[in-house]
Amino acid sequence: MAERVLVFDTTLRDGEQSPGASMNIEEKLRIARQLERLRVDVIEAGFPIASVGDFESVREVAQQVRECCIAGLARARFADIDRAWEALSGAENPRIHTFIATSPIHRQHKLGMTQDQVVEAAVAAVRRAVRYTSNVEWSAEDAGRTELDFLCRIVTAVIDAGAKTVNIPDTVGYTMPEEFGARIAYLVQHVDNIHKAVISVHCHNDLGLAVANSLAAVANGARQVECTINGLGERAGNASLEEVVMALRTRRDYLPFQNLETRVETTEIIRTSRLVSTITGFPVQPNKAIVGANAFAHESGIHQDGVLKEVTTYEIMTPESVGLATNRMVLGKHSGRHAFKERLRELGYELEDEQLDRAFRRFKGLADMKQELLDADIQALVDDEVIREDDYYHLGRLHVASGTQDTPVAAVTIHVGDGKILHATGSGVGPIDAVFQAIHKLIPEAGAARLNLYQVSAVTGGMDAQAVVTVRLEQGGRLVQGQGADNDVIVASARAFINALNKLVRRENTPRKGV
Ligand code: KIV
Ligand code: ZN
Repeated sequence: MAERVLVFDTTLRDGEQSPGASMNIEEKLRIARQLERLRVDVIEAGFPIASVGDFESVREVAQQVRECCIAGLARARFADIDRAWEALSGAENPRIHTFIATSPIHRQHKLGMTQDQVVEAAVAAVRRAVRYTSNVEWSAEDAGRTELDFLCRIVTAVIDAGAKTVNIPDTVGYTMPEEFGARIAYLVQHVDNIHKAVISVHCHNDLGLAVANSLAAVANGARQVECTINGLGERAGNASLEEVVMALRTRRDYLPFQNLETRVETTEIIRTSRLVSTITGFPVQPNKAIVGANAFAHESGIHQDGVLKEVTTYEIMTPESVGLATNRMVLGKHSGRHAFKERLRELGYELEDEQLDRAFRRFKGLADMKQELLDADIQALVDDEVIREDDYYHLGRLHVASGTQDTPVAAVTIHVGDGKILHATGSGVGPIDAVFQAIHKLIPEAGAARLNLYQVSAVTGGMDAQAVVTVRLEQGGRLVQGQGADNDVIVASARAFINALNKLVRRENTPRKGV
């Protein structure tokens, strides 16, 4: 019988702590539903005491996602734990995840607590959580830099207090794989009651070692890995879920992984990666392992020749195994609404009738202009529709004139949620600047917002490819990302800018406390 390695996804909590990656409730729900399809074991849905928005999203995910365990984060404080439970109590399988820092640096400079005080607070927190549920996880923040004897002592104490999972984070991404693996082996050997809990690891990527450290931990006895889609997360990010899962699967022949399996449906990996990238506005680098655009592309003649003769010459896993085989020509301008709906269903989208009508109208418009419509085109188009559904401001008409001789000018119409239609013109150093200047005049919230990222990527190859534009705006220390897709790059830019401004308007995006 194979032994299970549990996959704990923290995209919605640690991933959301990436500057600019904050998501609203609807966006978090979409990701959570996709994580359910991906069959992760645990979804960390947020940090309920951090903000009202976080609380609400944990509660919604807990109520709507029934096939995964739902975790909520809490510091070692009763108020945090009580609030986490309030958000989680509607879940089919809730988990309270409580943590406290254990390293000397954190104890001295952050907490101002002695070892005894930290043990006491950790045990009290676990006992409080156990009053609500037996599914309690405890984390030793900065465990990677904690004295081993103290780590053993506190782990023993929290397991005695009822923790069923003990998480050993490399919070600052400091350790080396051998060292981190040895740390886990030491706990296995020196903590008498360790068999009563699952050992989990949570590695950050500051030295690019998060996945290597997580795998070294698994090789030494860890049976839960905390990770995020696309490696999103605080600073340089967390261990990337897709890399950990595919390494365990592809290297089942490697002795330490021989009898291990995850329950992840790997064919959902690409879809999940794209959804997270679209919603957060964080593009995936082309050479990113597993999910990058080039991860399965063979460019050199020698490689192409080898792959044509025998695919395993240069491919250690198949594109199909991660869900990449479906990027074929799917529909054209003669396709009907029914075929479109069916294809969307296969791609994992369940749209309401009204959403479907809008998406279908745009699909027809695109099919008139673009000869080959690939799955990626349809995904970009539908994501674009769904993304702006809760928006208060929508782009109406847009007209731009620019060229080598004239000052670029733009005329923009915006439809407002209260039924008003606004119109303004603007000029700028280029056509996109002109559009943004016009929008500035129409949306008061744009006033103080500073553009600190503007990025364009093509959805597919070809001269007629759709553009996806990402903009990042900053206002009063708050960062938001907006996205827009269209076959016209200026229209896509206007959509992205307006989408970001809508996020600034939303109440739930009030500044939040991170961990
Ligand atoms: O990096 C870390 O230590 C964390 C804990 C809260 C698990 O995110
Ligand atoms: Zn973390």
